[in-house]
Amino acid sequence: MAQEVRGVIAPGKNEPVRVETIVVPDPGPGEAVVQIQACGVCHTDLHYKQGGINDDFPFLLGHEAAGVVESVGAGVTDVAPGDFVILNWRAVCGQCRACLRGRPWYCFNTHNAKQKMTLKDGTELSPALGIGAFAEKTLVAAGQCTKVDPAVSPAVAGLLGCGVMAGIGAAINTGNVGRGDTVAVIGCGGVGDAAIAGSRLAGAAKIIAVDIDDRKLITAEKLGATHTVNSRATDPVEAIRELTGGFGADVVIEAVGRPETYQQAFYARDLAGTVVLVGVPTPDMKLELPLIDVFGRGGALKSSWYGDCLPSRDFPMLIDLHLQGRLDLGAFVSETITLDDVEPAFERMHQGDVLRSVVIL
Ligand code: APR
Ligand code: ZN
Ligand code: ZN
Repeated sequence: MAQEVRGVIAPGKNEPVRVETIVVPDPGPGEAVVQIQACGVCHTDLHYKQGGINDDFPFLLGHEAAGVVESVGAGVTDVAPGDFVILNWRAVCGQCRACLRGRPWYCFNTHNAKQKMTLKDGTELSPALGIGAFAEKTLVAAGQCTKVDPAVSPAVAGLLGCGVMAGIGAAINTGNVGRGDTVAVIGCGGVGDAAIAGSRLAGAAKIIAVDIDDRKLITAEKLGATHTVNSRATDPVEAIRELTGGFGADVVIEAVGRPETYQQAFYARDLAGTVVLVGVPTPDMKLELPLIDVFGRGGALKSSWYGDCLPSRDFPMLIDLHLQGRLDLGAFVSETITLDDVEPAFERMHQGDVLRSVVIL
């Protein structure tokens, strides 16, 4: 029996979001219905609403979520009703060229639910990132459900499903930050702060936070930044070099997604250092760098997709570290709101007033 639940949709380009009745089908083979307990508000949801991702309106927004599996379809063995899960948008296929080479975190053929959720009139919905979790219940591929310790608060757990994982993974997976490394993070929103927390977890000796907003630098310090630089007031490349014996950082993580901040990252790293781009640029942006510097400075220029995470490996581990008091995921939850408050939460996010607003269901 299909069920009717409340959910937040983006009806059309730049139209305000609204709560509608969503029809959620019973799970088919390989699918699961999850009762959502919490879902964070992410920039990507806003990009969907603005038409910046694609034109497949209406969207069912929300994708940083945790909840309890309600029912599963035929053939599902990894999760069962009652399991507490974080939803991921990297349900790996096991068959593609990346999976077959033992690099499933790059999987090029990830799964979503095959059936569609709809409005009451039958209009098919496009779930954000194949999830759609600003809703009391959602239908996903079973592989999108990652079991974690249910002792964690759902509001905190859900954030690992996207932005916070992207940031932590940019540091520990893509950047390979290790004990004793110097790290600089440019852009200290939710993603950059998570990169800072990840660098601390990995044992970085020095973590330099760069932002243009002093409020962000204060939060960055709470999450593990040892030094802060306001790049409106101070040249960040000079400042980072000064703080690293004149050389630059071993790993510089760009968490803004702009050519000028990428350029800063490029020149703020030490010879043979690593730049990690985790901020998402827009298609019109161009980068110009002297090729001799790309060659002459050596090292690695990497991009981080979803923190190069493997949900089954990374989510339970990070939740365990959080429960042990070694990773302060609670610091990312700026406020909790209801399904009816998503539109104003977008505004607060846009103004930089919050790291994450989290819808509690
Ligand atoms: N230099 C330094 N910091 C900057 C600059 C700049 N030129 N421009 C913006 N910032 C800072 C903002 O002040 C803010 O603190 O970058 C931060 C961006 O944070 P958020 O807007 O909260 O975004 P976040 O959720 O952290 O995502 C960052 O990663 O996943 C991507 O799409 C996401 O591109 C976005 C990026
Ligand atoms: Zn694959
Ligand atoms: Zn997201």
